[in-house]
Amino acid sequence: MNIAVTGGSGAIGTYVCDELATAGHNVTSLDVAAPKVNVAFREVDLTNLEATCKAVDGFDQIVHLAAIPDPYDDPPETVMGVNTTLSFNVFEAARLKGVNRVIYGCSESSTGFGIHSVELVPQYVPIDEEHLLWPHETYSLSKHFGERIGANYAKAFGLEVISLRYMWVWMKRTEESVRNIVARARADMNLEEMKGKLWFGAHIAIRDVARACAAAAFFEFDSDADVRFEAFFLSAKHTFYSIPTLDVLESIYGTLPPVKDMGYFEADPYAAVFDIRKAKAMLGWEPKFDWRDFEEWEL
Ligand SMILES: NC(=O)c1ccc[n+]([C@@H]2O[C@H](COP(=O)([O-])OP(=O)(O)OC[C@H]3O[C@@H](n4cnc5c(N)ncnc54)[C@H](O)[C@@H]3O)[C@@H](O)[C@H]2O)c1
Repeated sequence: MNIAVTGGSGAIGTYVCDELATAGHNVTSLDVAAPKVNVAFREVDLTNLEATCKAVDGFDQIVHLAAIPDPYDDPPETVMGVNTTLSFNVFEAARLKGVNRVIYGCSESSTGFGIHSVELVPQYVPIDEEHLLWPHETYSLSKHFGERIGANYAKAFGLEVISLRYMWVWMKRTEESVRNIVARARADMNLEEMKGKLWFGAHIAIRDVARACAAAAFFEFDSDADVRFEAFFLSAKHTFYSIPTLDVLESIYGTLPPVKDMGYFEADPYAAVFDIRKAKAMLGWEPKFDWRDFEEWEL
């Protein structure tokens, strides 16, 4: 297939381009910067709709990754404005140019539990794709709005849309913090030592995100599906704590949130808070990498 990767020259985009090219697709990075791997390149500022339409012409699918990837270095209105404009332009251009499918690089932040301001208590754990979405800060909202545009375009215009809500991606840019996290986990920190520093421990290997994008490109919707939209959580199998996940949750909230499926935590007490069984069942995707083998990860 001919696949365009917006933001294909960025940290995650580089791996996604590589994975798709290895799977035999003709891959083109649509970006303001040149790609770091051997794929075709169209230089384009995707905040311009006309330029975006020209850039996506002729592709079967788009993987949309171009964005400001966190809220830390830019004013909030810039993060919101750029990210929602990029998403709108890509979905609108896909519609106008007859691209079949957009695979959207969403984020666990779009749930309200990744980058967040207020510690909201989950309705239940593990958190699956049925859980309500509560984003309430600029980056998280911008990722959520992108997903909503996609879902609505799927319903209104028959576009195929797959939203991949992946966790914090471990990469070169964050290597120092990641090394500290792994060292702490290996030192078997107990809950007392971790007090006040706990969060969901959600993370994922960059190669596992790229593998999921490749799986999404091959996914087949039911031929009689009314709306061709699906969202999937993507996470490493475990949190990055050497503390059972239910203890982590109880420590964060003072009391355990309702447990929707106790069997999930009985089968694996260290299992991720975000449930990845839908991605396994429908995309045939499972993460390969675990923090205990961190030295084998590509960053
Ligand atoms: N990094 C994470 O932990 C994480 C987690 C979940 C989701 N995401 C999402 O994954 C995607 C990629 O993140 P990343 O960490 O690789 O970011 P990155 O900054 O490394 O890459 C983003 C790419 O988008 C390009 N880009 C930005 N604005 C553009 C524009 N106007 N026109 C054309 N190209 C433009 C940049 O040049 C860059 O190559 C983002 O959508 C981000 O929100 C990231």
